[in-house]
Amino acid sequence: MDASPPIIRKLPPMPQVRLKNGLVISRLINGMWQVSGAHGDIDPNKAVNAMHKYCEAGYTTFDMADIYGPAEIIFGNFIKNRHSFHPKNSVQAFTKMVPSAGPMTRNVVESAITKSMLRMQVKQLDGLQFHWWDYKDKRYLDALQHLSDLQRIGKIRELSLTNFDTARLEEITSKGIEISTNQVQYSIIDQRPSQRMSKFCRMNGIKLLTYGTLCGGLLTDDYLGQPEPRGRKDLYTASLWKYKQMIDAWGGWKLFQELLSTLRDIADQHNVTIANVATRWVLDDPVVGGVIIGCRFGVLGANHAVENLQSVDYDWCLTEQNRSMIGKITSRSNDLLKSIGDCGDEYR
Ligand SMILES: NC(=O)c1ccc[n+]([C@@H]2O[C@H](COP(=O)([O-])OP(=O)(O)OC[C@H]3O[C@@H](n4cnc5c(N)ncnc54)[C@H](OP(=O)(O)O)[C@@H]3O)[C@@H](O)[C@H]2O)c1
Repeated sequence: MDASPPIIRKLPPMPQVRLKNGLVISRLINGMWQVSGAHGDIDPNKAVNAMHKYCEAGYTTFDMADIYGPAEIIFGNFIKNRHSFHPKNSVQAFTKMVPSAGPMTRNVVESAITKSMLRMQVKQLDGLQFHWWDYKDKRYLDALQHLSDLQRIGKIRELSLTNFDTARLEEITSKGIEISTNQVQYSIIDQRPSQRMSKFCRMNGIKLLTYGTLCGGLLTDDYLGQPEPRGRKDLYTASLWKYKQMIDAWGGWKLFQELLSTLRDIADQHNVTIANVATRWVLDDPVVGGVIIGCRFGVLGANHAVENLQSVDYDWCLTEQNRSMIGKITSRSNDLLKSIGDCGDEYR
């Protein structure tokens, strides 16, 4: 694949957002699923060096999970030297607790987060995002009650969710459990969060942290005018594989190429890239706290830190005409809310 299009403007500082419990995070967040092993090999030392570089460019917030292979350990190796590189408290880390079905006792829940804290070498989790597979099993409410208690004694700063739907968000908050963020898939392709979830979140001070915003790299200049990628050889990371299926469900490769071509026209108007337009489109939704962009840290040619900063350059903005150009294409796509369900239902 070609190198990224050249950078054409002075780069802006990274904008930040304050969450419910006071934590300030960067609006572009580094996604660490890409160091899990499912996206090719990562050299942990090179990864740590790359993380320092991202941090220096303003990307201070990292997203990982207990199930992302060595991600939490790599973060721990990065953070233990942070004082020599970055001022105190200038890095924020969100992890996820993704338990298998079973009793959600205080002991089970506390052991899980203690393990993450040890691996991440932190005394408090800045953000803990809880995931649950099966809504018929109501023990997610037990787990969240314990997590809320653990938050009260200072083990967790922001108590968050990932892939919960609107109905469950309402149920959980009605029990008095304060939720700061919900991490969901949100892109020009997958607009489900704006259909049902965003209203409830706005009314309850909950921010969305989004993934899939670049469809694993497919929603970028790299795939404009390219033949349809098929099979594991073309779709060589877990992320490319996942979002190619989403594009198929959305409307297929031909319509996707029309979208890329329209995004290229818009990008030309603003001297930016398709990735920048796709990211800004999501960031412009006021319910979105941050966009998580996956980083294959330390992999040659996979450092997009400089280019992606153009997404948060407020010297340019998407016009109403730009939005309607995008809308004309997406109005011809399938309704994912109908075919898949609300946010996160693809996991159930
Ligand atoms: N909660 C959940 O269920 C869930 C699910 C998926 C992801 N996530 C989180 O979200 C993060 C994001 O992952 P994702 O799978 O959704 O992927 P993504 O952010 O949509 O795409 C990441 C890929 O896009 C490419 N890319 C980034 N900037 C680019 C640019 N300017 N130009 C061209 N290509 C660019 C990179 O490819 P190269 O590396 O090839 O350069 C990168 O690996 C994950 O790391 C994880 O933290 C959470």
